Amino acid sequence: MNGDIKAILISEEEIKKRVKELGEQLSREYEGKKVIMICLLKGASYFTCDLSRAMSIPVRMEYMVASSYGDSTDSSGSVAVRLDIKDNITGLHVLLVDDIIDTGLTFARVKNLLQLKNPASIRTVAMCDKKDRRLNGMEADYVGFTIPDEFVVGYGLDYAGDYRNLPFIGVLNPHVYARTK
Ligand code: IMP
Ligand code: MG
Repeated sequence: MNGDIKAILISEEEIKKRVKELGEQLSREYEGKKVIMICLLKGASYFTCDLSRAMSIPVRMEYMVASSYGDSTDSSGSVAVRLDIKDNITGLHVLLVDDIIDTGLTFARVKNLLQLKNPASIRTVAMCDKKDRRLNGMEADYVGFTIPDEFVVGYGLDYAGDYRNLPFIGVLNPHVYARTK
């Protein structure tokens, strides 16, 4: 598997440090508020679990599946919700968490849909941010790491379902997509 990774972009230690910082920041900012974290599966699962455990305030958890990618490295441009939340979020402060903000289409679409359910507030948390790729001016409220425009995998991020369980975030060797295209 390691021949498939061109370089480690963010190490396991750097991830742990940043998750701890973000958890502390969110705990301060949301102190005394009713918070629900909504994790966008599957990519944000590792980050959301670790971030929630780095928070010292009580949080509820919910899960959604929104997909824009098939097995390619580019967004298809349309975002479909394949699994919706079950809980009522009226009056709750929502933290919508994704593994990466790329074109911005996923956050924009899911945030709009959640807005219709009357939460007290919604903010977005992205583990990684590829700023150069944005199509819609969407910005995440909290960002773990701003990264260059390269296809990355690990710590939840996948290519065609693989590499999620790498403990670091690495750049995928382009020969991997050449092989499957
Ligand atoms: P957006 O809707 O274009 O902002 O993209 C968000 C989704 O694209 C993320 O949830 C990821 O699943 C996927 N994605 C974007 N860039 C990457 C990447 O470099 N590696 C793995 N997945 C990515
Ligand atoms: Mg994905």
